[in-house]
Amino acid sequence: MKSIIINKYGGPEVLEYSEMPKPVAGPGEVVIKTKFAAVNPADWKVRKGRLKIITGKKFPKILGIEASGIIEEVGEGVTSFMVGQHVYAAKDYTTGTNSEYFKVPENNVLLLPESMPFEDAASIAVTGVAAYQCLLLHGGIEEGMKVLVNGASGGLGIMAVQIAKILGAEVTGVCSSRNIDLVKSLGADRLIDYTEKNLFDEDYQYDIIIDSAGNLNLKNSKKLLTKKGILIKVNISLLTVRDQFISSIFSSKKVKLVLMKVIKEDFQWIRDQIAIGRLKVIVDKIFDLKDCQKAHEYSETLRANGKILLKVS
Ligand SMILES: NC(=O)c1ccc[n+]([C@@H]2O[C@H](COP(=O)([O-])OP(=O)(O)OC[C@H]3O[C@@H](n4cnc5c(N)ncnc54)[C@H](OP(=O)(O)O)[C@@H]3O)[C@@H](O)[C@H]2O)c1
Repeated sequence: MKSIIINKYGGPEVLEYSEMPKPVAGPGEVVIKTKFAAVNPADWKVRKGRLKIITGKKFPKILGIEASGIIEEVGEGVTSFMVGQHVYAAKDYTTGTNSEYFKVPENNVLLLPESMPFEDAASIAVTGVAAYQCLLLHGGIEEGMKVLVNGASGGLGIMAVQIAKILGAEVTGVCSSRNIDLVKSLGADRLIDYTEKNLFDEDYQYDIIIDSAGNLNLKNSKKLLTKKGILIKVNISLLTVRDQFISSIFSSKKVKLVLMKVIKEDFQWIRDQIAIGRLKVIVDKIFDLKDCQKAHEYSETLRANGKILLKVS
């Protein structure tokens, strides 16, 4: 089968469009024939070796952590799925989804609602579920709370703005001028154009801040947080780990690092909100699988407005 692999960590040039053995479903696993696979910032972070602690030194590696497709094979003991069903899935970094087939535990898989295109389904597992878990599980969002989404026009931000609105919050989105209309259309109550105005110059406080853009920390955000406010970080860094520790002991304002976990109920909540039309999926660009290098280069510009996909079949 054709796959996007790396044989070493490095720049986009280490991505290879290559032949790999088709996976076989083990007990409790399914093999999915991929329709669309997403390219997330996590993919080029893996490619660069920034997540070596998790991804190790074994090559070749197939990249990709989410995709949609059709069940090709079910392993022993699988009870929830049958061959031919339309599904989508998220997985860890061990063997990826940028491939004609991939295998995954059945618990990581969800059925597509009839009306959902494969493109949308490949776009929701990572950013949708991460945004939901940031707001609900870790942020403790309640109706009327004030939420700031820093980086409101990216894959994660687009989901966070909409989910915070569905959950009854007042939402402020931070984005550049070219994305003001987009973020407004998602339902944001307030907008800050970071090219025109400094977020820190405002006299306004938030109960939850989701820092998708990645430039906030405990020190610079204290003034932006309410007394028991929480700054949610979505990328691992030493500063974040230190801020999380310090704030857990010395401050009523907290910093928390959140990494998306596969929790089936959370996947279902996102899927249901999309199915009833409350949550919009925005796909920015679609590349062919063999053009994965271009997709990585585009993602690395940090200018995407929604999801970047690979068309696999
Ligand atoms: N922890 C988790 O589970 C998890 C899950 C998903 C994603 N993430 C992380 O979250 C981050 C965002 O992911 P993503 O998929 O949303 O990325 P993305 O789609 O590539 O984000 C691009 C967006 O960021 C905006 N942006 C860039 N610089 C900005 C700034 N200084 N202020 C405000 N907005 C800015 C851009 O808008 P402009 O062009 O208008 O600047 C663009 O719309 C990544 O680091 C990713 O690894 C973590």
